[in-house]
Amino acid sequence: MSKGEAQVTWGGRFSQRPNSLMQVFGESVSFDMRLAPYDLKCSLGHASMLQKVGLLTEQEFKEIEAGIHELFEEIKNDDFPWKLELEDVHMNLEQALRAKTEVADKLHAGRSRNDQVATDMRLFFKDACFQLKTSLEGAMIALLGLARKYPNLPIPGYTHLQRAQPVTVGHHLLAYIEALGRDHERFSRVVEHANVCPLGSGAIAGTTLPLDREFSAKALGFVDENGHALITPNGMDAVADRDIFLEFASACSTCALHLSRLSEDLILWNSSEFGYINLSDSFTTGSSLMPQKKNPDSFELIRGKTGRIIGNLTNLMITIKGLPLTYNRDLQEDKPPVFDSLDQLSQCLAVVAGCIESASFDEGKCRLSASDPLLLATDLADYLVEAGVPFRKAHHYVGALVALAEEKKLSLPELSDEDAGQVCEFLKADWREVFDLERAFSRREKPGMPGPNQIALRIQFWEGILQA
Ligand code: ARG
Repeated sequence: MSKGEAQVTWGGRFSQRPNSLMQVFGESVSFDMRLAPYDLKCSLGHASMLQKVGLLTEQEFKEIEAGIHELFEEIKNDDFPWKLELEDVHMNLEQALRAKTEVADKLHAGRSRNDQVATDMRLFFKDACFQLKTSLEGAMIALLGLARKYPNLPIPGYTHLQRAQPVTVGHHLLAYIEALGRDHERFSRVVEHANVCPLGSGAIAGTTLPLDREFSAKALGFVDENGHALITPNGMDAVADRDIFLEFASACSTCALHLSRLSEDLILWNSSEFGYINLSDSFTTGSSLMPQKKNPDSFELIRGKTGRIIGNLTNLMITIKGLPLTYNRDLQEDKPPVFDSLDQLSQCLAVVAGCIESASFDEGKCRLSASDPLLLATDLADYLVEAGVPFRKAHHYVGALVALAEEKKLSLPELSDEDAGQVCEFLKADWREVFDLERAFSRREKPGMPGPNQIALRIQFWEGILQA
């Protein structure tokens, strides 16, 4: 092979071809090929700007445009001959365009792969966030559907995994809808931050050519709500900055953490010990040995994949931490973690939607567990507060009543008036009414509480947002 033959884009100063090990080691096309549609879009935007400033004639632009459209088709039809020796997606596409028209040699004027890949990735993040927001909506709609089926079904609420106070299935599922709603917002913010165009930064210090950065930004959709171009203000920062990678990976991690906590709740609820929920056969698996088993693998995998998604964020942070400005080749490693976070989280969200849609509650078991009177011990303290007892004292009285009931092997309301009266003189004849669950919920009708009207209102709110 003659000088530079294998590397037409940068081979000019080289007299030796790359070592084959180095080719395999250094290539990124095996994973960055998924940027092809963004890279083509980016090239089209750049070419139209080059025409506008007179660096391409109209005819030359048209040839480039036609070539790029052909490449779009080839990529779409999975009919593109990717070459490892061309290193990355950018050089593969540039060479392929060159094979269609010689004018392609003019395309890289005023551009470097550094600002090119930064622009491609911003376009990618906009799409990725849109995709995740749609998947999030799917999971939220499924959760809302289940909340709507059982809005007021009582279950114990837990702190320290100990029975704490009664809540409802509606209240519990809405808690996750709120969290996923914040994830949705987080992805919108990532899109806002991604919506600034680095093109024109070149390798680091721009170019002497008369580029029109605003024009390229507009051509690629990097505009504010009034249609004004949004461009990065510092070329060094533009090519070195990976903040959006971190924000995206972090938003994915937070969302995965929510799904992981949801999974843990559902795994517990699905166990014989709890028995609150039944998961459909289609999202559970059997044991190869124990015929009775029906395992909640879908949720265990979500928990497991959350580790992987958090790992991707850590991976990025460590890759970036010691890098001097500006671009360093280490940054080629920035793509697999974000691609993986997108792919894994999309799947997790789809699995959550499927599992939740097909799940049902065992109302009997839920009601039985929620009927534990100790769940309403705090309500008894509130009862005493309303009778004028300071809360700390009321808390102490109820604690003593619980201890007495335990000693007598009775449930709290089974204590006789006489025994109870000896511990606490402020109990009146109606003290056992506190243990009525319906009363307990109907007195919790402030925002954020599990009162039936509050739950109905919040369900309505989310129905409006999700149009479900
Ligand atoms: N494949 C490279 C990456 O993803 C493209 C940028 C290369 N720039 C360079 N100066 N070698 O980071």
